[in-house]
Amino acid sequence: MTLTLAAADGRPAPAEDLAHFPLAIRGLTVSYGEKPAVFSVDASFHPGAMTAIIGPNGAGKSTLLKAALGIVTPLSGQITCYGRPLARQRERIAYVPQRASVDWDFPTRVIDVVLMGLYRQLGLLGRVRQRHLDTARACLDRVGMAEFATRQIGQLSGGQQQRVFLARALAQGADLYLLDEPFAGVDAATEKAIIAVLKDLKAQGKTVVVVHHDLATVRDYFDRVFLINTTRIAEGTVAEAFTETNLQAAYGGRLATAQMGAAV
Ligand SMILES: Nc1ncnc2c1ncn2[C@@H]1O[C@H](COP(=O)(O)OP(=O)(O)OP(=O)(O)O)[C@@H](O)[C@H]1O
Ligand SMILES: [Mg+2]
Repeated sequence: MTLTLAAADGRPAPAEDLAHFPLAIRGLTVSYGEKPAVFSVDASFHPGAMTAIIGPNGAGKSTLLKAALGIVTPLSGQITCYGRPLARQRERIAYVPQRASVDWDFPTRVIDVVLMGLYRQLGLLGRVRQRHLDTARACLDRVGMAEFATRQIGQLSGGQQQRVFLARALAQGADLYLLDEPFAGVDAATEKAIIAVLKDLKAQGKTVVVVHHDLATVRDYFDRVFLINTTRIAEGTVAEAFTETNLQAAYGGRLATAQMGAAV
């Protein structure tokens, strides 16, 4: 499926702008029913930056990521990865889904989950070789989960599962990492471990986009923010866009001042 649809107004976005961005979204509208979940959204995720996607529950954050991955089909809009249609760039994007969305009823070992990140190298019927196992184990080691390699994924805690998902994304060796609330429900040690891995990816020049709820850590963790509430509220560096005015606009005034912490 190709997602280079016409822009909302029918005009294609200028190609020279798009090639710069690991992920560029123009005029994106996604609807599951009558009311759009994401409406006419433009977003440019900058190379080598860590960007937080921020907005209240139901704001369309997960939908935006799913559209960027081709998991949901937009009504309209254009999505490009380094200026190219998504379909041909898909292997450059790694995704860690929101935890509640994953059903672990089927029996799968941790190491097999990480090996899924290598499926493009393996091919559909490819044999797992020692070097693939070595890569998968090294990725588990990076997230502190090496000792759980042969455990069933369903028998891990939520925070441990989250680390395994990150290991799978690392195994893929992508350029762009999309993570949907990786810190939700994890303890301080796991949060530290995950953020260290993400900062390491950034140091390697990778692009990291994270749906994030904890406003108190935004300044510490991120370079840029993208605020959404069905439509785009603001986008920019933390200094430019992570402002009280924009947060009030995104959360509709329901945001407690205390929740903003020292951030604004
Ligand atoms: N598969 C679906 N079918 C129908 N409606 C959906 C579906 N997925 C999401 N929605 C609706 O679309 C809107 C946006 O949902 P989305 O999951 O993108 O929000 P979100 O910003 O990620 O919220 P949260 O912070 O709770 O994860 C919500 O109103 C939600 O109820
Ligand atoms: Mg979500």
